[in-house]
Amino acid sequence: MKKLTSCTAWRELGEYRRSFGAVHMRELFAADLQRASRFSSTFEGLFLDYSKNRIDDDGLALLLQLALERDIPGAIAKSFTGNRLNVTEQRAVLHTALRAPATERVILDGTDVVPAVHQVLGRLAVFSQKVRDGSWLGFSGLPIRDVVNIGIGGSHLGPQMVTTALRDFADGPAVHFVSNIDGADIHSRLQTLNPASTLFIVASKSFGTQETMTNAATARSWLLDGGATAADVERHFVAVSTNAEKVAAFGIDTENMFGFWDWVGGRYSLWSAIGLPIILSVGFERFEQLLAGAHAMDRHFRDSELHENWPVLMALLGVWYNNFLGAETCAVLPYAEQLRWLPEYLQQADMESNGKHTTVDGDLIDYHTGPVVWGSPGTNSQHAYFQLLHQGSRLVPADFIAVVNPGHPLREHHDLLLANCFAQSEALMLGRSLEETRQHSSAELAPHRTFAGNRPSNTILLQQLDPRALGSLVALYEHKIFVQGIIWGINSFDQWGVELGKQLAGEILPGLNQPLGSSRNPSTLQLLDYCRNKSRKNNN
Ligand code: F6P
Repeated sequence: MKKLTSCTAWRELGEYRRSFGAVHMRELFAADLQRASRFSSTFEGLFLDYSKNRIDDDGLALLLQLALERDIPGAIAKSFTGNRLNVTEQRAVLHTALRAPATERVILDGTDVVPAVHQVLGRLAVFSQKVRDGSWLGFSGLPIRDVVNIGIGGSHLGPQMVTTALRDFADGPAVHFVSNIDGADIHSRLQTLNPASTLFIVASKSFGTQETMTNAATARSWLLDGGATAADVERHFVAVSTNAEKVAAFGIDTENMFGFWDWVGGRYSLWSAIGLPIILSVGFERFEQLLAGAHAMDRHFRDSELHENWPVLMALLGVWYNNFLGAETCAVLPYAEQLRWLPEYLQQADMESNGKHTTVDGDLIDYHTGPVVWGSPGTNSQHAYFQLLHQGSRLVPADFIAVVNPGHPLREHHDLLLANCFAQSEALMLGRSLEETRQHSSAELAPHRTFAGNRPSNTILLQQLDPRALGSLVALYEHKIFVQGIIWGINSFDQWGVELGKQLAGEILPGLNQPLGSSRNPSTLQLLDYCRNKSRKNNN
């Protein structure tokens, strides 16, 4: 494929940026009274307003032209078939098959993968029912009251995000998450639990991740110290993994293992058995609704024209800011407390996918790829960093996400929440000119109280935060990330960048207990020396 920067639309977007760059969104709204409705659409119970973006019809047409030049339609089609999109790991990318109905066929290397997906779903339904109805008993005969998911990255962030998002639907055991290698994480969690009524899910695609395996071993010792025998471990440990051998070697009966496949990337795996904590919390039927919502977005992505395709539009707007207007980051601002983990979830989904410096062919890239993704729930965020969003020197495109009908009865709170959400996007867009400010402010303070505005945002509204709407929302972002990866010509499905640190940690570990000689750089040696000298474990 042609180099991105050689694409006609890319060049024309650069020119357009020079002519259009200074146009204020106030002018765009003034010039087109239909702008709000023309630049918005509904999808099932979701509403997307992308009118507060620094783009007009001509700019959008160029971005859509770029999508054609990068063969986004072809890439979309490939993403739903037995592709090998993850070329550096020689793997297919088929997480969409995890939410395909049993009637669909997705062929990979001559085999339909959908029956295997539904076979695992069936086992998850049976197992989760036993835990939820109290018939799965711990070693002393108590039913399971607490579930601890031990996993990290994709084996943690998705289930944690969804379980929290759907907490209004929770009617199963309490679900907790332990991920960090920092002992403070598991230590404090275990202190609150009773071994006799606790179930651990060891969730790891590879079943070799240091953090997860260390935490799992600590949990097993805690269980044994708490009165269980080795034979009882099977009542308290289940595994979710692609690696049956390692699961068995850890001592978990593979009867209690729920599998998935190497064509499911870790950060795209919440739809697989990795979603077990979600199922235990809200029940299998609601998990099915989550899958159905994601599948509905898959169909929209696969079948819609580019100009009305939500993931494509959001991706293109992101490219516009990232590559033409100098934005280095983008904020995800859920005005919904239950979506508190969404920004963190999207950090892995987006930054592990698109934080790449070579093209698929291995050429070094001379344009920016994935932005820094960050954010946290409003209104808390307003009182923390919104100052920079409004008056800072950087451009930060933002996604505001809000829910129309809350899961609680406090309407007054909710009206205030929504009013704040809409006020922020309006203030970012409109700003307040010096002239307007002078009417209410002293001449001295007026410059400080002026807002340039013209700061872009999308607003996504969910009629309610239910499993189906959440599934669609998450799939929307997955596909947006995919489209951006194709535009930038990168492999969004590997993560070689996290390997070096893992390898070095293994080499550095012995240095905490004995000098490493001069085998490492002086800064690391100095840090290790300091820890050895000051550590109570070495000085008692
Ligand atoms: O951080 C790298 C990574 O491989 C992620 O991509 C993955 O989600 C995470 O580690 C956990 O991996 P696993 O599920 O194999 O334990």
